[in-house]
Amino acid sequence: MEDPTLDAVAQVTHKKLQGKVAIVTGGASGIGEATARKFALHGARAVVIADVQDDEGQNVAASIGGPDRSTYIHCDVTDEEQVKCLVESTVRIYGRLDIMFSNAGIGSASQQTVLDFDLASYDKLMAVNVRGWRRV
Ligand SMILES: NC(=O)c1ccc[n+]([C@@H]2O[C@H](COP(=O)([O-])OP(=O)(O)OC[C@H]3O[C@@H](n4cnc5c(N)ncnc54)[C@H](O)[C@@H]3O)[C@@H](O)[C@H]2O)c1
Repeated sequence: MEDPTLDAVAQVTHKKLQGKVAIVTGGASGIGEATARKFALHGARAVVIADVQDDEGQNVAASIGGPDRSTYIHCDVTDEEQVKCLVESTVRIYGRLDIMFSNAGIGSASQQTVLDFDLASYDKLMAVNVRGWRRV
């Protein structure tokens, strides 16, 4: 659970990311969203939220502080071209890229046995969690 006192202390004393520009893949929710907020709190100049959930991602970016502090960019990490565009857009908008948090991922929808093994789900999971991470 978030401790507001710790966040207030961090805001004043621990600007570890002062001036840094970060990308957080999977930043529209969960761990990625929390990390994006922490990066901003710790002084990051800009945090780019990269995700496939457009509404959620835009809301996170807006709540961090708008275009000067945060932008949402649609990016499916399984698509190398989209990842390339993400990095190029970030550098074009903010002039640099210091941190890449390759957080985007999915879980397995069900406990499968060898008898009902769903190869398409397996391939998707590997594309996002393994290949997507390596490419970013
Ligand atoms: N929460 C846990 O207990 C746990 C445990 C082990 C590993 N993880 C890993 O940590 C990461 C974050 O987990 P979380 O619990 O915050 O999950 P989450 O589902 O809340 O967030 C994952 C985010 O990744 C995004 N995403 C999914 N596929 C994507 C794609 N192809 N391209 C871009 N974005 C995509 C989703 O839209 C979502 O916003 C994941 O990679 C997950 O596999 C989580």
